[in-house]
Amino acid sequence: MPKANRKMKDIEVPGTRQFANRVDEFPDCVDLTLGQPDFETPGPIKEASIDAIRTKSMKYSHNTGLFELREAISDYYKKKYGADYDPNGEVLVTVGGSEGIDGVLRAILDPGDEVIIPAPTYLGYEPIIELSGGVTKFVDMTDTGLIATPELIEDNITEKTKAVLLNYPTNPTGVTYTKEQMDALVEVFRRHDVFIITDEIYGENTLEGDHISLAMYKDIKEKVLVINGLSKSHGMTGWRIGYVTGHRKIMEEVTAVHLYNTICASIPSQYAAIEALRNQLHIPKEMNAEYIRRRDYIYDRLVGMGLEVKKPTGAFYIFPSVEKYGKDSFKFCTNLLETVQLAVVPGRSFSEFGEGHIRLSFACSMKELEEAADRLEKYINILETK
Ligand SMILES: Cc1ncc(COP(=O)(O)O)c(C=O)c1O
Repeated sequence: MPKANRKMKDIEVPGTRQFANRVDEFPDCVDLTLGQPDFETPGPIKEASIDAIRTKSMKYSHNTGLFELREAISDYYKKKYGADYDPNGEVLVTVGGSEGIDGVLRAILDPGDEVIIPAPTYLGYEPIIELSGGVTKFVDMTDTGLIATPELIEDNITEKTKAVLLNYPTNPTGVTYTKEQMDALVEVFRRHDVFIITDEIYGENTLEGDHISLAMYKDIKEKVLVINGLSKSHGMTGWRIGYVTGHRKIMEEVTAVHLYNTICASIPSQYAAIEALRNQLHIPKEMNAEYIRRRDYIYDRLVGMGLEVKKPTGAFYIFPSVEKYGKDSFKFCTNLLETVQLAVVPGRSFSEFGEGHIRLSFACSMKELEEAADRLEKYINILETK
């Protein structure tokens, strides 16, 4: 049989999936591996899409997306962040944030180019970097409070660095950045000729303070590529709508990758996205009120169990340390699942710097969260009395 790309041997099924896939083996399992809102897409968004299917052309749109959607994205950025992205040439509609990540990385990377990623981090970047011939350079945030500090970034930039990739609010830690912290990072970005890729897909899921988008820093626009989308903000993971914004010079290249990859995003989904951005911007706030309630509950329970944990200020994940029970988070999660039927994600799935932690998602009902906390406590009591 002919052989696949040699690099494929290093590409594993993500840890999030590995545990989610085992949930079915345990009929009574509580599943906190979820990476998507438990809220259904709001009715008016669905209706807008249904209406469009009935009344609008369902042929390919422009490669960069329907103009009305690009304009809605551009207006959203202007209103929320004061950013100027021309709907013609600086906004690209993609198939989820995932396709945005793929397009951006493939458009900028030459073989051997390094991408600095503060970690623990989302597991969707490394495989694309590796397949593009690039090199992933995870830098350890565990000694800096899970925050990328200016020193951490600057000390790691070399002549091989092509990009720094940030994700905030951060999956898996729920960390966000203040204006002061972002200002300090931007000082570093101003000094170096590298791209800054910023995955802000959880931007609307900021649970405390305001989201400080890198789109706000107009003087570094030529370096910054912002990835965003509606999956998390509007409970729209299955619609597959994301977008990339950036300076037109580099967006031309990202668009070229996108058009060979997908031609354009799905048209019914693009109409749904227009409704979400034009008339449903109150939705994330409503979801956040619920996430805050759950976050406070699970945080208090984890602290009560004696686990070291940072209170998340964004996204819907919490990332306690379980290191005192052994460094191997995979083993911890496997035993947790098999002993008390609770599925969570091992921290190691989020780079080696996530080791010793577990990720719990609170995108589930309060009842499930309570049951999950009880089971985790039970398991920890078993470990403590061993
Ligand atoms: C940080 C981050 N970026 C991107 C994505 C992918 O988003 P989408 O479903 O829009 O492709 C996810 C999904 O979990 C994520 O956590």
